[in-house]
Amino acid sequence: MARIALMSGSLRRESVNSSAVATVQRIIERRGGHTTFRVPLRNFPLFDEDTERVGGMSRLWSTLEQFSTADALFISSPSYNGYPPGVLKNALDWLSLGGGNSPLTGIPAAIASASPGRAGGANVQPHLRLILANCGARVIEHEEVAIGNAPRLRGPDGLFVEPGVVGHLERLVDATLAAAAATPVAQSR
Ligand SMILES: Cc1cc2nc3c(=O)[nH]c(=O)nc-3n(C[C@H](O)[C@H](O)[C@H](O)COP(=O)(O)O)c2cc1C
Repeated sequence: MARIALMSGSLRRESVNSSAVATVQRIIERRGGHTTFRVPLRNFPLFDEDTERVGGMSRLWSTLEQFSTADALFISSPSYNGYPPGVLKNALDWLSLGGGNSPLTGIPAAIASASPGRAGGANVQPHLRLILANCGARVIEHEEVAIGNAPRLRGPDGLFVEPGVVGHLERLVDATLAAAAATPVAQSR
């Protein structure tokens, strides 16, 4: 049984990346025997190493604590001018605290992107892979999942229904669950 942390790189209410996360959450629930939790970017204040100057610390600490129970991470991110949104990089910087003992160290991480454009924000993925790798995460090797024309591929509940997209996400979920089983990272912390 694996416990999967889910992150959307967008704060937007109608976010297509949050739709990808919600779709992945439902796929994992349907696989059975696994648990998931969302990692809300709003729980991370602007990064400041002088943490005593930062407000909202109790929400941050509980988010970091919860994250440390994860066996794997799934991120779907928009591309903003070819790079991950600042709010996502900000959260990853908080999660990287502790260096080699941070909750990102060794965690299998799967990435996807979504966008209204045809390329699905694919240009963000090499940068996100590099950021995660530099934080010590083990980015899962997988066919690229970049969901183009994304707003039109959702059902009334906001989840993706287009069979090609759902198939891509299902295969990414299976790769993530396999990586989590092969790397029991949470138990070793
Ligand atoms: C500042 C800015 C830069 C953007 N740059 C890109 C880009 O490089 N590639 C892309 O596919 N979409 C780009 N977009 C469009 C986003 O993909 C689009 O806003 C998307 O819906 C955001 O994801 P969300 O629906 O999850 O919020 C950009 C949007 C903004 C606001």
